[in-house]
Amino acid sequence: MAFFSSSFYLLLLLSSIALSEAAGWVGVNYGRIADDLPSPDKVVKLLKDQGIDRIKLYDTDSAVLTALANSNISVVVALPNELLSSAAADSSFTDSWVQSSISHFYPSTKIDAIAVGNEVFVDPNNTTKFLVPAMKNVYTSLQKYNLHSSIKISSPIALTALASSFPTSSGSFKQDLIEPVIKPMLAFLRQTQSYLMVNAYPFFAYASNSDKISLDYALFQDNPGVVDSGNGLKYSSLFEAQIDAVFAAMSALKYDDVKVVVTETGWPSKGDEKDVGASEENAASYNGNLVKRVLTGSGTPLRPNDPLNVFLFALFNENQKPGPTSERNYGLFYPNQQRVYDIPLTRADVESEAPTMVNGGSKAQVPSSKGQTWCVANGKTAAERLQAGLDYACGEGGADCRPIQPGSTCYNPNSVEAHASYAFNSYYQKMGRASGTCEFGGAAYVVSQPPQYGKCEFPTGN
Ligand SMILES: *[C@@H]1O[C@H](CO)[C@@H](O)[C@H](O)[C@H]1NC(C)=O
Ligand SMILES: *[C@@H]1O[C@H](CO)[C@@H](O)[C@H](O)[C@H]1NC(C)=O
Ligand SMILES: *[C@@H]1O[C@H](CO)[C@@H](O)[C@H](O)[C@H]1NC(C)=O
Repeated sequence: MAFFSSSFYLLLLLSSIALSEAAGWVGVNYGRIADDLPSPDKVVKLLKDQGIDRIKLYDTDSAVLTALANSNISVVVALPNELLSSAAADSSFTDSWVQSSISHFYPSTKIDAIAVGNEVFVDPNNTTKFLVPAMKNVYTSLQKYNLHSSIKISSPIALTALASSFPTSSGSFKQDLIEPVIKPMLAFLRQTQSYLMVNAYPFFAYASNSDKISLDYALFQDNPGVVDSGNGLKYSSLFEAQIDAVFAAMSALKYDDVKVVVTETGWPSKGDEKDVGASEENAASYNGNLVKRVLTGSGTPLRPNDPLNVFLFALFNENQKPGPTSERNYGLFYPNQQRVYDIPLTRADVESEAPTMVNGGSKAQVPSSKGQTWCVANGKTAAERLQAGLDYACGEGGADCRPIQPGSTCYNPNSVEAHASYAFNSYYQKMGRASGTCEFGGAAYVVSQPPQYGKCEFPTGN
């Protein structure tokens, strides 16, 4: 095995880059439907202190955009639904909106996208027909300021845009939306090299089907997974299944090339009786495991090479949001800037987290109580893929690979599969067995029995 050849370090470097490219990024939604939030300047300081370098807004508030100037924080701004009909009607409206709300702040405020409307198809004011014309007018106005290649235009859709999402491979858009808005929007996104924005909440699916959906599956905890009866792919989290349902729906319309960014996802830390599953423990598990999954894992089963990029909802609990108690309790922070629960938010947080704090770091998130698990290589994977995973685990991944070196206890059997299994497991245990840390581009899977390779003992991390 060429695993310690002279080109090892070069291979290591190349494969680390290749694999970490599949890892995504995490941003946070800065919603402000509240009367007790800190000033925008304080919020920007909080974001910097926490290492949060991407946020999404629901408007183009001038105090907020000014506070964000020169912060090097990337910002998605929004044209609210209330402005869609004006924006669709007249490009002189979008010209002045782009002038006063975008170009006035750019580039000192790092605006990188505009969300035109939000969940427009479920807007009770029925603004769907204005959406694509509004997006096109905003684009034309950006062109006038020569900002059209720096700033993307999209529009967050809710998962309710799907007619079907189970099994995942049957994902399809609602028939009455396809011709009027989905196809023209996807064509526009393709043409402008933008991406689809999707808001996805496994919490809603869980809360209304908690008798059928396993909580572990919804929270990215150890679970047997759900096999898609259509294509045989196995899902280890509801979130990934939801996103792949969107990909399946896009694929059915031949838009496999358009990327997706998850513009909202989250889990409430408090709720009413109907908000089944809302709790601090579950919110910490969902958000903490999601962050680890996004920052260390690959894409989804349907699009393994597309990084998962997500904005968590939300930065703060927002006391003036209408609806059930859960709506006011999605925040990572209280208005006094204290954390509601402690989870990693950045790559540095994930890497420095102690292995015992596996599922989010608070008391209820001890490692799986259902017994130990290990990560092993799938022997049917192409050898190059195993090798790339092995190199990554032993290199950037920080697995303990000393035992598989010549002369050490786990060198025999001397095969890529055995060595990769050892390294994958070491990495998996080090990452606290979090969901998404036994993936290696599909080259690995979780087992519940100790792996058997010669006399080698696989560590368990406890
Ligand atoms: C700004 O952020 C980018 C990543 O978004 C980073 O690569 C760059 O180094 C940052 N620049 C400064 C001056 O911090
Ligand atoms: C619907 O439109 C009315 C009139 O423009 C506005 O007052 C109201 O806030 C809108 N409702 C929503 C949910 O956007
Ligand atoms: C919304 O508009 C569409 C077409 O413009 C129309 O078919 C539909 O009935 C309207 N729905 C409501 C609730 O007003």
